[in-house]
Amino acid sequence: MSEQRSSIHGQWSSRLIFILAAVGSAVGLGNIWKFPYITGENGGGAFVLIYLCCIALIGIPIMMAEVLIGRRGRQSPINTMRALVKDEAAHPAWSLLGWGGVITGFFILSYYSVIGGWALAYVFHTAAGFFSGASADQVGTLFKDFVGAPESVLAWHTIFMVMTMVVVARGVQGGLEKAVTFLMPALFLLLLILVAYAMTLGAFGKGLDFLFSPDFGKVFYHCELDAAGAEVCRFSGEPILIALGHAFFTLSLGMGAIMVYGSYMPGDASIGRATLVIVIADTAVALLAGMAIFPIVFANGLQPAAGPGLIFQTLPIAFGAMPFGQFFGTLFFVLLVFAAWSSAISIIEPAVAWLVENHGLGRISASVVVGFLAWFLGLGTVFSFNLMSGEKFQLFGKTIFDLFDYLTANILLPLGGFFIAIFAGWIMSRASTRDELQAGESIGYRVWRFLVRYISPLLVVIVFLHAIGVI
Ligand code: PFF
Ligand code: NA
Repeated sequence: MSEQRSSIHGQWSSRLIFILAAVGSAVGLGNIWKFPYITGENGGGAFVLIYLCCIALIGIPIMMAEVLIGRRGRQSPINTMRALVKDEAAHPAWSLLGWGGVITGFFILSYYSVIGGWALAYVFHTAAGFFSGASADQVGTLFKDFVGAPESVLAWHTIFMVMTMVVVARGVQGGLEKAVTFLMPALFLLLLILVAYAMTLGAFGKGLDFLFSPDFGKVFYHCELDAAGAEVCRFSGEPILIALGHAFFTLSLGMGAIMVYGSYMPGDASIGRATLVIVIADTAVALLAGMAIFPIVFANGLQPAAGPGLIFQTLPIAFGAMPFGQFFGTLFFVLLVFAAWSSAISIIEPAVAWLVENHGLGRISASVVVGFLAWFLGLGTVFSFNLMSGEKFQLFGKTIFDLFDYLTANILLPLGGFFIAIFAGWIMSRASTRDELQAGESIGYRVWRFLVRYISPLLVVIVFLHAIGVI
């Protein structure tokens, strides 16, 4: 019976389009903005290695689980979970998983849109020649002045959110399919150019060393810059939790974004193969971004642990110095905006699809409602870098942005992923998952089922226990 479900929202026109859309969701600010700065804050190589293990052992099996659940339910994650609860005679509490994802999505989009707005502003800053010949100091000051001015950051956040709402309102298939087809390859190419430029800097070896030679001492210490700009490190289980959280964040897992895209996937496409392509593309983009950024950091005597401003304080130095830098720089930020845009769309699609299904709203009204709420929540992040950056606005030493980022990436996404793994591995029948993966009783299927039943959930629990100091 479940084979006959079809989505009221339409379907991707081919399996290649599903892959492109999912790559569009996965590749975004997480790869180019977040991966480098958290790698810088957590000591480099060892952190990267742990992140890669999380991708392989947790990310891949859970992505397959999310896609297969979505394709079986063929509705928004909330209704998909309700439908599968019936099919599999599961406890009704499992429907909460869909709800949790929608709420997590609001929190993520709220700050994602603000950083997307930064990228948008940098398109214009670069095009206007702000960075031509600028020193590392000047580039740093430009960044601090920019995020320090709430009105303009607010304006860019608003523009980015409206852009997201417009595409979602038009339906994902209409606006998105065409865009991702050539933008993702272009971004990849531009990253290669940046890496080639980074090779010409004296510090290329040092950058690679930082990224790829693991120093496990460092991953047990978390480093931040204090008010005076000096690096302070303390022993904690946090870096491993951050690596795990980032594996979920970067692959768009644990909140229903990949699930809702799976619900539009043609029935005959292979989930396992699509997942591998998506994961490889996402990982390649992150590693290339790191290979471009760290040589610039070291060549200019900057701090790898500079935080969320890292790419905005490093890449412009390169664009200011390299041949045709103004052109390449502008193009780079344009592509970064597109990458962020195609991710943001997938973050609100679960909520929009649900409003359309259950409340009879059109896509336009649904997008406006969801976008407005996320925009409003985003004010907290806008002000985290200026009006509310002071200590009296902080909780546990974290600004609102830090809190939202920490809560979503490091707690809510891994929790969501944990329950998705349990649902696919323990609650759904063997016959259902085997059907949907079209793998028969192959080795591949057995390996997947073993990972999703035991390894992935167990690793998530171990990392959580380590983070709170139990082990
Ligand atoms: N994967 C996106 C990135 O790396 O930028 C961010 C993201 C998209 C997170 C969709 C969560 C999500 F549901
Ligand atoms: Na990503």
